Amino acid sequence: MTVRLRLALTIFATGVITALGVLVTVAIAFQRFEHENVYERANAFLGRVVALHPDLLDLRARDADGFTAFLRNLLLFEPDTQLYLLDGDGTVLAASGSMQPAPGFKVRLAPVREAVAVAGDRRRAAYVMGDDPEHMNLDAVIAARPLRRTLIRAQAEPAGFLYLVSQPPSLNVGHAEVYRSTLAGTAMGGVLALIVGMTVCAAWIVATVTRPLRDLSAAVARAQREGFEGADVIGPAGAAARRGDEFARLRAGFHELLARLRAQWDALRRLDQFRREGVSNLSHDLRSPLTATAACLETLDRRWLGDPARVDDRALLEVALRNTRNAAQLVRSLGDLALLDEPQFKLRPMTMNIAEMLDDLVMRFADRASRAGVTLHNDSMAAVFAAVDIELFERALANLVDNALRHTPSGGRVTLRADGDRQSVLVIVSDTGSGIVAGDVERMFDRLYSGAGGDAEGGGKGLGLAIVKRIVELHHGEVAARSMPGQGTRVTIRLPAQA
Ligand SMILES: Nc1ncnc2c1ncn2[C@@H]1O[C@H](COP(=O)(O)OP(=O)(O)OP(=O)(O)O)[C@@H](O)[C@H]1O
Ligand SMILES: [Mg+2]
Repeated sequence: MTVRLRLALTIFATGVITALGVLVTVAIAFQRFEHENVYERANAFLGRVVALHPDLLDLRARDADGFTAFLRNLLLFEPDTQLYLLDGDGTVLAASGSMQPAPGFKVRLAPVREAVAVAGDRRRAAYVMGDDPEHMNLDAVIAARPLRRTLIRAQAEPAGFLYLVSQPPSLNVGHAEVYRSTLAGTAMGGVLALIVGMTVCAAWIVATVTRPLRDLSAAVARAQREGFEGADVIGPAGAAARRGDEFARLRAGFHELLARLRAQWDALRRLDQFRREGVSNLSHDLRSPLTATAACLETLDRRWLGDPARVDDRALLEVALRNTRNAAQLVRSLGDLALLDEPQFKLRPMTMNIAEMLDDLVMRFADRASRAGVTLHNDSMAAVFAAVDIELFERALANLVDNALRHTPSGGRVTLRADGDRQSVLVIVSDTGSGIVAGDVERMFDRLYSGAGGDAEGGGKGLGLAIVKRIVELHHGEVAARSMPGQGTRVTIRLPAQA
């Protein structure tokens, strides 16, 4: 999820939560207002009744049935309201409703007393909730007035109470309409407008604030795709930096970093180009004189062959010839590496059976192997096809076989094997030779690394494996070696399988 979307969602969610909070608050306030209203009316009504009929207890004592009818008459214009006559303990003596409570039925006295107190002092509470004898599971708005018997004067405790219960009106059509017009019509409309307005505003703010971030991430993606060489990937930094917010500074910093990296990269490339050209030219220029020198030395050697007076001279000649050949090989290898390092160097891949290539190698090195007393064979079980530059890949494998033969004593074995599955093609060259100490295995693919005895006979200069590695890299593969000193070495080339 993008930062923009996340910010927009956060602001939208905040707006929705705020709107819901406002709605709940309005609903609670609305309900409270209604309760207060009901209570006001109920309280005033009770006040009027008690003022007109202070002897309600006596009235009920004289005529219980007539009293119930009397209570009902009082409520003719008070819907959703019931009147009860309570004795001093809260026991219901008479009720206006059609559902008469069982004899001895009591309501909680504490809310009744609270209602009496609130009627005397309105600062105590806005309204009082108490028991509704008809629905004891629901609290209702109540009002109460104390009653005294007319015959007995100066009583400390009231002898009874006139108790009014007002049930909150059920949500009939009329009330629903009130809610709709008050809440939905006004508040909801306003709140919805607020949410829409906030969302639009938030979207605009997010888009404006994060535009530099979007540009920056696009620039980074472009730099990633096209490298430093690409055109000016993020445009001029000056104007953005002057605006001075964090994004602009980040963008300017990135621009500077990129410019510096590009400058360093250009310098490195120029140096590398210079090095490659230098090595390549040197290799080219040295190749002919070295070949000519070797040819002269070989001619001299042939001339002195069989001349007893030249035995000592021939020993010197042999050293000179060996060193000249080594130097020629080194010069050739350096030239080859410089060529393989050229960015514009292109492989010429062709699909080839690698097992067959290994057979050719076995034939090519058979003579040398038998002279060295080493068994060389191809262990591949089946044809394994891979797209390779035949000349280069064969050269890499020849280098591995050359190394293996050079480091395997008489009686040893060098095994070649090609294997493959759906993901990759493996080519393995293993030997039972001298092996390499653990620390050197990682370095053996480095340029000019030649381990103990590398430069002795046969003239190893430590470039062969570097060339192998470069060739394998050009084939998008990888090469690794495992070795145990005294037991042998196993070099594995892994190439991606053909699509
Ligand atoms: N099969 C092997 N067994 C033991 N040591 C090996 C083996 N292959 C390579 N090495 C070690 O790794 C070093 C580097 O090998 P690499 O082929 O790069 O150079 P080189 O054979 O010495 O010279 P070059 O191949 O340039 O003529 C060798 O000098 C040798 O010490
Ligand atoms: Mg080698």
